[in-house]
Amino acid sequence: MTYGLFGGAARGLIHAVPTTRLGLVSQSPLIAPSILSADFARLGEEADAVAGADWLHVDVMDGHFVPNLTLGLPVVQAIRKATDIPLDCHLMIDDPDRWAVGYAEAGSYNVTVHVEAAKDPVALAKNLRAAGAKAGLSVKPGTPLEPYVDVLKHYDTLLVMSVEPGFGGQSFMPEVLDKVRTARRLVDTGHLTLLVEIDGGINDDTIEQAADAGVDCFVAGSAVYGAKDPAEAVRRLRAKAVR
Ligand code: DX5
Ligand code: ZN
Repeated sequence: MTYGLFGGAARGLIHAVPTTRLGLVSQSPLIAPSILSADFARLGEEADAVAGADWLHVDVMDGHFVPNLTLGLPVVQAIRKATDIPLDCHLMIDDPDRWAVGYAEAGSYNVTVHVEAAKDPVALAKNLRAAGAKAGLSVKPGTPLEPYVDVLKHYDTLLVMSVEPGFGGQSFMPEVLDKVRTARRLVDTGHLTLLVEIDGGINDDTIEQAADAGVDCFVAGSAVYGAKDPAEAVRRLRAKAVR
């Protein structure tokens, strides 16, 4: 077993993820609390509240690609200074070809763009990697995977949306798990080398079915920040996702 592209060497921040000859697999489930459900007036403290989380998921919404507006690059730069947790930026924005690289240059660990918005997703992945980040590609619930398998060869993460992007606290859509199973199979058979991430409605009741389908990394907003003890919620979710 060797250590693959998600090893902690680059920034020394997260535990290494082993690869097998079958592709990239995570050693233990990764949990990425979404600060969309945190107190935006206290983002530094809210990052501290999930100490032990693998990644901190940052939802960037532009009011165009999704009908909601959240935060942008200056806030990401400020969060980057306030925490050592690797930032997992999820860009729900138009024209990511123009804007996404700035988030990589700001020191994000992983920058995810939407395939529905990207004009040249292959070039974009190369640019994100050249700027020092992992490259992530996201698909909305209604977007199929099959047309993008070749594009995904250039990406490090695939973010399967399990709600319509735009808002936290929505109900999990189990029908997207077919895409997770497909992606898992493509990784396990060596056709893709990426982590499978899921986002939307992940909580104590839904995380196990997502884990069974083959998810490596679980975004959770309301289930973590709505809990009395967010760090404990991260540990509990991770334990439930172990397979
Ligand atoms: C929704 C965002 C999610 C959101 C998830 O568009 O991409 O990251 O924060 O929130 P929960 O876990 O509450 O569904
Ligand atoms: Zn998200």
